Amino acid sequence: MPGNRYDRGVSVSTDDERHELLELRYGKGKAPEDLRWNDQIAGLLRHRSVRTYLPDPLPDGTLETLVAAAQSASTSSNLHQWSVVAVTEPELKAKIAATTRMDSMDLENTQINEAPLLLLWVADLSRSHAIATESGDSGDVLEQLDTFLVAATDAALAAQNATVAAESLGLGTVYIGAARNRARELAELIGLPPLSFVSFGLVVGHPDPERPARIRPRPAQELVLHRERYDTSAWREVVEEYEEEFRTFRDDVGLGFKTWRSSVVRMSSGVDLMDGRQNLDETVRARGFLAR
Ligand SMILES: Cc1cc2nc3c(=O)[nH]c(=O)nc-3n(C[C@H](O)[C@H](O)[C@H](O)COP(=O)(O)O)c2cc1C
Repeated sequence: MPGNRYDRGVSVSTDDERHELLELRYGKGKAPEDLRWNDQIAGLLRHRSVRTYLPDPLPDGTLETLVAAAQSASTSSNLHQWSVVAVTEPELKAKIAATTRMDSMDLENTQINEAPLLLLWVADLSRSHAIATESGDSGDVLEQLDTFLVAATDAALAAQNATVAAESLGLGTVYIGAARNRARELAELIGLPPLSFVSFGLVVGHPDPERPARIRPRPAQELVLHRERYDTSAWREVVEEYEEEFRTFRDDVGLGFKTWRSSVVRMSSGVDLMDGRQNLDETVRARGFLAR
């Protein structure tokens, strides 16, 4: 798989380098103009998911640094309704990897076994429940949809801070939404208390320089950016233009032909293709969420 120097985390300091990075993100001739820059923004724009790792352990203090970054994220009402389970034992990682299997694609998240660290990000209302009920209160707010969303959002914000910190240290990461495929089994494997569930995983490790991950292009900003009011008219044209970048990226990294639209269709239709995640509602309710 061919790589480019930005795949290896080089600094981005000249205008030419910034332009080149933006073209990797948006496509040739499609880079937005007039962006403001600093090292942090350059780091964010260099992001790519890494699925090939060296087995080397992480330097001492890495986990604690990532957790400090995660805890520095905003957290709804300062309630800290998330947790993270750090898994390094190869046998446990292998069992967890098996729970993330995607039968519909005959694929496993092998990166979980390759990398030295798997972080499991937990939407966690268990402490709030204990504190509320121990003081004689009902804790009934914890059964609401909004509170479920608060915990899942807090976990995501914390994880993304950890991701940015890891990337700034030259490490690679990839999220594992497939951690929800067999949510009940995973909760048992890591001994989660009631009123908590793994929202997603995050693999962390040293990227294998022999198998570099590429920066994946994004659609033009008009797909996601609306000014003052939601505009339903712009996105179809953006999608047409994005198909070209999508195709070029897949050609470059040796993936077979498919359109972006076909990915959307596949992920939007056919509940049996959810690889177990269609049972998540049942699992989270059994774990005490959404009782109202
Ligand atoms: C919540 C979430 C769950 C994801 N789950 C998986 C996963 O289970 N396996 C995987 O290989 N990639 C997973 N990804 C990575 C996405 O496929 C990736 O971010 C996307 O294709 C864009 O590529 P990039 O991150 O390299 O820019 C996940 C990403 C997010 C945000």
